[in-house]
Amino acid sequence: MLRADGPADVTSPASGGHRPVSAVARMGTWPGIAAAGAGVLSERPVREAVMEQLASGHLPVMLDRVLELLGPALQPPGAVLVDTTIGRAGHARALLAAHPALRLIGIDADATAIEESRRVLTAYGGQIVLVQAVYDQLPQILADAGHSSVQGVLFDLGVSSPQLDDPERGFAYSYDAPLDMRMNQAGELTAAEVLNTYPAERLARILREYGEERYARRIADAVVRERDRTPLRNTGRLVEIVRESIPAPARRSGGNPAKRTFQALRIEVNGELEALARALPAALDSIAVGGRIVALAYHSLEDRTIKRELATRSADSTPAGLPVSLPGARPRFRLLTRGAERPAEAELAANPRAASARLRAAERIRAAA
Ligand SMILES: C[S@@+](CC[C@H](N)C(=O)[O-])C[C@H]1O[C@@H](n2cnc3c(N)ncnc32)[C@H](O)[C@@H]1O
Repeated sequence: MLRADGPADVTSPASGGHRPVSAVARMGTWPGIAAAGAGVLSERPVREAVMEQLASGHLPVMLDRVLELLGPALQPPGAVLVDTTIGRAGHARALLAAHPALRLIGIDADATAIEESRRVLTAYGGQIVLVQAVYDQLPQILADAGHSSVQGVLFDLGVSSPQLDDPERGFAYSYDAPLDMRMNQAGELTAAEVLNTYPAERLARILREYGEERYARRIADAVVRERDRTPLRNTGRLVEIVRESIPAPARRSGGNPAKRTFQALRIEVNGELEALARALPAALDSIAVGGRIVALAYHSLEDRTIKRELATRSADSTPAGLPVSLPGARPRFRLLTRGAERPAEAELAANPRAASARLRAAERIRAAA
């Protein structure tokens, strides 16, 4: 993926929408701000919070839609929002500015993200609880915070720009760095471990399924040949192996050919799909009637998980053939988005890293049977 400045290549199709100050200054008219003639982004405290974030190079993805969709659920006094992927608190800060009485539980697997969010949200000290954890621990986190239900849940999945831009983390194929890719720096599995120990078949399956890599088997075989000589330690060597493994014409199109391999490894190292499959049902169960969920996905498999879970919960589950719908089988949610929403062209022009974002949202309309 290309950026207007800084490193040309990053690993993720997605991002947390953080951009360097120079780029933000240059773009001047970020669409969400420029078009904020009406709506919550035009309210002074929100606008100020967002402008400050822009000045520090932070561009939360589809912020205007996130504010709009979560807004009605966060009006009641004492409303609680769980930001399951707080990152650098971009969305969280704007939501707190828009809802001054909001209580926020912020989760992130990455200790640096939690530290940075604490700094960004200093002004809201009494209203926030920040927890370093994988988001599938949500039920325990809510119980510890003393909440049996919440009014809002936000998922902004994947990797953040600060993670991509930190050469030491090994997420980006544009830097030569240790093969790490852990979001939780204390996690046990690293990209080096995956590459140096998984059998070729398993490696190939990961590259094919998580990276949609056409040449998965060739790359996996090349990794195994290479590691038999010397264990792989650095991203630079992996980039070379990928490049050497694919046919020459494929090297010349579609950006850096290592992009898909890096994405696949990151998903495997962090167990991203499994964590989402556990966390999403728990998050939906925790939402009170009138509460809302907004989920931003950057990978087709993540989006499919979200789409299916929301579709199931917003459908009537009365068995086919019964003349009337069973009271206990009526939908518990209603969809707030028709299909997946994508960022507007203007946002993409300002923040190309948002290109693969897909947003879905739903509202709880009935309590559990
Ligand atoms: C796209 S960023 C979020 C950006 C944030 N919305 C903002 O505006 O600053 C995604 C964040 O989710 C975190 N993350 C990814 N998978 C996670 C998981 N399974 N559990 C907890 N945090 C996770 C990453 O560490 C990263 O900080």
